[in-house]
Amino acid sequence: MLPFALVSNIMMPEKHIYIETFGCQMNERDSEIMEQLMRNASYVSTTDIDQADLVVVNTCSIRGKAEQKAYSLLGRLRKAKKENPSLVIAVAGCVAQQDGEGLLARIPFVDLVLGPQSIYQLPEMVAEAQNKNAPLIRTPQDKSFQIPPFLPDLRQGASHKRFVTIMQGCNNFCTYCVVPYTRGPEISRPFEDILAEILLLIQNGVKEITLLGQNVNSYGRDRKGLQQEHSFPALLRAVADVDGIERLRFTTSHPKDLSEDLMRCFSELDVLCPHFHLPVQSGSNRILKRMNRKYTIESYLEKIDNMRRYCPDIAITTDIIVGFPGETEDDFNATMKLLEDVRYHGAFSFKYSDRPHARSTDFDGKVPEEEKGRRLSLLQNRQNEISLERNREYIGKQLKVMVEGESKAAAGQWSGRAGGNHIVNFNCASTLMPGQMLEVLIEEACQNSLRGSLLL
Ligand code: SAH
Ligand code: SF4
Ligand code: F3S
Repeated sequence: MLPFALVSNIMMPEKHIYIETFGCQMNERDSEIMEQLMRNASYVSTTDIDQADLVVVNTCSIRGKAEQKAYSLLGRLRKAKKENPSLVIAVAGCVAQQDGEGLLARIPFVDLVLGPQSIYQLPEMVAEAQNKNAPLIRTPQDKSFQIPPFLPDLRQGASHKRFVTIMQGCNNFCTYCVVPYTRGPEISRPFEDILAEILLLIQNGVKEITLLGQNVNSYGRDRKGLQQEHSFPALLRAVADVDGIERLRFTTSHPKDLSEDLMRCFSELDVLCPHFHLPVQSGSNRILKRMNRKYTIESYLEKIDNMRRYCPDIAITTDIIVGFPGETEDDFNATMKLLEDVRYHGAFSFKYSDRPHARSTDFDGKVPEEEKGRRLSLLQNRQNEISLERNREYIGKQLKVMVEGESKAAAGQWSGRAGGNHIVNFNCASTLMPGQMLEVLIEEACQNSLRGSLLL
């Protein structure tokens, strides 16, 4: 007779999970967590959607286009569900939280709808959906929610860099933004949980950690009594102290909460990469006010100057919205002027998009689509020139580069990242390991990357 374990192996074919992720790094990290939870429930990850028994669509709602992408993928799953009625389809992330029941009304063959606070319940929800044969919706938004102490799965080996979520949600209510409604209020993870996770990652060979949150500068403020010793700069110092960490990054920051103490970290902590992503959104005080950003352009510029005093080599990047309701030609020109004043190393720029719940959806002075498009290309064209000029400043400099991998295009061509987050391409005849640190002499600059020679 066969031992029971063997019999059950033979009788139970492997189940596969396929995850498609839209949106920000926090969503990517949530997808990793859901995948890990399902692996613990004996699922195997697949990149072939046709092989899947469970499809998770982790959605983003930041702009109308992101939401449409999620719905169009869901629409395409109709055929798969028809051919295989036992396929479980789960929708997670910000569109799931935002639309809840409405999502089921639009896509009735979905089995599970789960908001960001419910991702930890995915295995139970999948089991329940299979037994019940009825859709399940869990989209709670509880202020007292605690992010569970969750340790990463390292059975399949750790890559050289990992994201670590330090907080969820946002309290800022910028008038254009859906995030405070989809992710709920700011909830910081306990200091000790974050450090335990990072320690485990570093002990298993991870070299670079990126701390994630919608507004990391306000980390800890929701945890009463812990403000000082467990502030964001205190967290950075503690993480930088972990033995073996080589690089530390974080995203995203809100200019109103950027403290001098945080700037000081850039001059104090060797492992903290010289890159700061500081979304500005607009160069016009009138628009910043309508956006509820709570800073003026003068105070923003002062902070940039101050930061450059602490870290002269810092690469500063930003996010910009064009065509916010009421944005005049003068307001837009103020944003164009800001590009000249700051000379960002890079900028992500977007056409304003109305979002559910966002206050600006009801604002007057909507800018026509065509005009938004015109402003966006003007802005992007100028920023591309500035990015190239900025990148040229690296020519002749020696940069520390962390190896990412070999180029698929040609053998012997490698790429890595500099501290300022630039992609750096170089040739090397020997085999390199992702995460290895090298010195590269920069010889050429493109708009989105640098090229150089490896220094022995
Ligand atoms: N928490 C971050 C950003 C999150 S969203 C911060 O505070 O900056 C990423 C970017 O998307 C934002 O910085 C903004 O530039 C853009 N964005 C957000 N809502 C938008 C909307 N309704 N229309 C267009 N762009 C938007
Ligand atoms: Fe949205 Fe503003 Fe919060 Fe960023 S800070 S997530 S833009 S509300
Ligand atoms: Fe998108 Fe939600 Fe992130 S709206 S950007 S997935 S927080």
